[in-house]
Amino acid sequence: MEQKTLIKGNVHYVGVNDRTKHRFEAMWPLPYGVSYNSYLIEDEMIALVDTVEICYFEVYLRKIKQVIGDRPINYLIINHMEPDHSGCIRLIKQHYPDIIIVGNKQTFSMIEGFYGVTGEQYMVKDGDYLALGHHKLRFYMTPMVHWPETMMTYDETDGILFSGDGFGCFGTLDGGFIDSRMNVDKHWDEMVRYYSNIVGKYGSPVQKALQKLSTLSISAICSTHGPVWMENIPKVIEIYDRLSRYDADNGVVIVYGSMYGNTEEMAETIAAELSAQGVKNIVMHNVSKSHPSYIIADIFRYKGLIIGSPTYSNQIFPEVESILSKILSREVKGRYLAYFGSFTWAGAAVKRMAEFVEKSRFELVSDPVEMKQSMSDLTYTQCQYLARSMAHRLAKE
Ligand code: FEO
Repeated sequence: MEQKTLIKGNVHYVGVNDRTKHRFEAMWPLPYGVSYNSYLIEDEMIALVDTVEICYFEVYLRKIKQVIGDRPINYLIINHMEPDHSGCIRLIKQHYPDIIIVGNKQTFSMIEGFYGVTGEQYMVKDGDYLALGHHKLRFYMTPMVHWPETMMTYDETDGILFSGDGFGCFGTLDGGFIDSRMNVDKHWDEMVRYYSNIVGKYGSPVQKALQKLSTLSISAICSTHGPVWMENIPKVIEIYDRLSRYDADNGVVIVYGSMYGNTEEMAETIAAELSAQGVKNIVMHNVSKSHPSYIIADIFRYKGLIIGSPTYSNQIFPEVESILSKILSREVKGRYLAYFGSFTWAGAAVKRMAEFVEKSRFELVSDPVEMKQSMSDLTYTQCQYLARSMAHRLAKE
C-alpha cells in the first residue's frame, strides 16, 4: 500500500483529485479536472507539505494514515495559502494538536485570518533551514508565485523541490502521479492554460524565483497541481521560463465578436490572407463561443494578436471588452497587434480599441480597418493589407 505513494527516499504523495468542480477559482474550466497535491516526508520528525481542499479531508487523512499510521505529524509546512491548498489546516491542527506550522510572516497572518488557527509556529525567512533527521529542508521566499506569502521548500537530502503553484498545471493524476510512470500528454496544454490563466500576471516574480532556484540540483519537482516532475524537469522549467518572459511562438491569434457575421467576414478575410502569406499557426476565437481561458492561453502562446469588434451600444462588443481587460490585467508583453471593427450607424469600437493599444504597449503593425455595415471591395483590400502587415512583421522575427 505504502509503495503506491512513494516518490523517492521516504517522501510520499498524499494529494487528491478533483473531477467534480467545473470552474477553478469559479472561473476557469476544468475539462480534465485538477489535482491538489500534498506531500509527506517520513523521517525522525514527520513533515506534511501543504494540504488540500477542505471537502477532501476524509480521503486525505486516510492517505496520510496509510503512510504513517498513528505516528503524529511534527510539522505542517505551508508554501501557499490559497484555500485549494490551505483548506485543511484547521482540521489537520484539530487532528494533530501538537503540530508546528511552518511558514513566513505573511503566512501566519493569513492562517489566522482565514482559519482562526494560532498556536506553535516556526516562522522562516529566505534561506532558513529545518532538519527532520535525515532530511534537511531549506526555505526560499518566492513572493507572487502566486500570492505574496508564497515560498518554496527544497529538500537538500533528495533534491526535491516542493514548489507550490510554481510548475503546476491543470489535469488530474489518473492512477500514477510521477511523470515517468504516466501519460502526461494532456498536461502540457493544461500547463500553458494554468500558467496564463492563474499565474500569468506575475511574469517578473516568476523570473526572480527561477533565478533564485537556478543553482539547485533538482531531482523532482513537487508542485501543488499536476504530476510530480522527474523525467521532464528541463522541459517544465523551460515552459515556465518562456511563459514568464512572455516569449511566444510565431503565429497569430484572431479574437473577434460578431452578431450577424459581418465582422466575422473581416476575420475570415484576414485569416485567409495570413495563410496565403505563409503563416501556419493561426487560431481563431469567436468570443461568444470560446471561453476566455482558452483565448488567454493562445495569446500567451503566439506572438501575433488581431482583435475585431462590432460596435455595440456605442461601445466595444462586451465579450471583446472583457478579453481586452483580461489581457491588460495579465500585463502581457511584446505582442504584435492589429485590430478591426464595424458599425451600423456610428462607429465606436475601433475608436475605443485605440485606448487598449496605448495601455497594452503592443507594437501596432497596421492601421485599423473600420467597416460600415457589410464587406465592400475597399474593406476587403484593407483587411488583406492588415494581414500582410502582420505576416511581414512576423517574418522579421
Ligand atoms: Fe493552487 Fe494559488 O493556488
